[in-house]
Amino acid sequence: MQGKRILLGITGGIAAYKIAFLIRMLKKSGAEVRCIMTPASCDFISPLVVSTLSGNPVGIEFWNKQTGEWTNHVEYGLWADVLLIAPLTASTLAKMTIGNSDNLLLATYLSMKGPTIVAPAMDLDMYQHPSVKRNLLQLESDGVSVIPAESGELASGLEGDGRMAEPETIFTALSSFFQQTQSGRLIGKRILVTAGPTYEAIDPVRFIGNHSSGKMGFEIAKVLLAEGAEVVLVSGPTQQSLTHHRLEHVDVVSANEMFDAVKSHWESCSSGVFAAAVADYKPKVVASSKMKKSDVDPTIELIKNPDILAWAGQNKKSDQLVVGFALETEELLANGRLKLKKKNADFMVLNSLADDGAGFSVDTNKITILDAHNKQTEFELSSKREAAQNIVEYLIKSIQ
Ligand code: CTP
Repeated sequence: MQGKRILLGITGGIAAYKIAFLIRMLKKSGAEVRCIMTPASCDFISPLVVSTLSGNPVGIEFWNKQTGEWTNHVEYGLWADVLLIAPLTASTLAKMTIGNSDNLLLATYLSMKGPTIVAPAMDLDMYQHPSVKRNLLQLESDGVSVIPAESGELASGLEGDGRMAEPETIFTALSSFFQQTQSGRLIGKRILVTAGPTYEAIDPVRFIGNHSSGKMGFEIAKVLLAEGAEVVLVSGPTQQSLTHHRLEHVDVVSANEMFDAVKSHWESCSSGVFAAAVADYKPKVVASSKMKKSDVDPTIELIKNPDILAWAGQNKKSDQLVVGFALETEELLANGRLKLKKKNADFMVLNSLADDGAGFSVDTNKITILDAHNKQTEFELSSKREAAQNIVEYLIKSIQ
């Protein structure tokens, strides 16, 4: 933790008294600590204690009424390596999800350049409330890491989930956060990932699509981010969501839109992982108004879409690496080999719909990696997260 700049946000819950211990631990480990307290938290722990232990003035208001000095939330956001909010009350949680900035801590959260970690603390029933659960999920999808509350005796006398994680647990979570960001093997690399299906319009209400859930591509993006990479994720319509301060997410609908997004980002990326299930064909003519039912069965003429992976393979520089996917129902290896060559990929991730547990809507996958030197590596059936880790591991070894 030596030299790490930790901005600690304290909100008004009884667990605030435990923050004194956390500040001491952080200071002892060599971290620099600055604190922002919400006005409500000052009833639970004295700003004098927080200021004395952290060795820095405490920010509470936007401006100091005595001195007339302005406290700059933007400067706090630029200074900090991480913003840790502990304890996080239901009220501050709700305000964070809607971008409310009615106190110094919330304005700082919105100005943060680096990541935010929170440790919620509330009473049993509050913690179980659907709105709190929903807000925590929202915060996670906004890219905030949540250190879950623990189970135990609560200030109300009740017992159950809602107790703020102990200072030791928060300290450990922070240390592993710094370890992870320091040891990332893809720090400084920008990697493009395509994910999900594409929808090809027939008319304003109908399209040709496929069953791709986008899970595999999103899991790959998550593993790349955990390894420190910057990720450009170009995804077709999916239910998946992901936010991260190193993620640029480009939403597209059709293969042509995906192709445009890939072309405009490819130059700036050192590798591309093409996990999208791109529609090979699209209707030649898109009706401008809804097609009406008629007595004559319609025929939709299809024309080829651009092959995005093949374009990247043909347009890669010597230091760019291209990873393709091939989903086959038969002749997995022979078809995979053909695609690898045709699309000039560095390696292909093969999966067969014939394998149990592999395919679109399941959470597992069984992959084989085939590289340009005809080396073939088979992996056991695993979760899509583990499959993503195996693919990223292979990518890291290939670029070393
Ligand atoms: N792909 C692409 N653009 C397309 C079609 C496919 O970028 N228009 C990419 C996919 O993202 C995947 C790989 O090519 O990485 C293989 O896709 P797949 O559908 O298995 O192969 P196709 O070339 O479409 O061959 P086929 O459908 O005949 O098996």
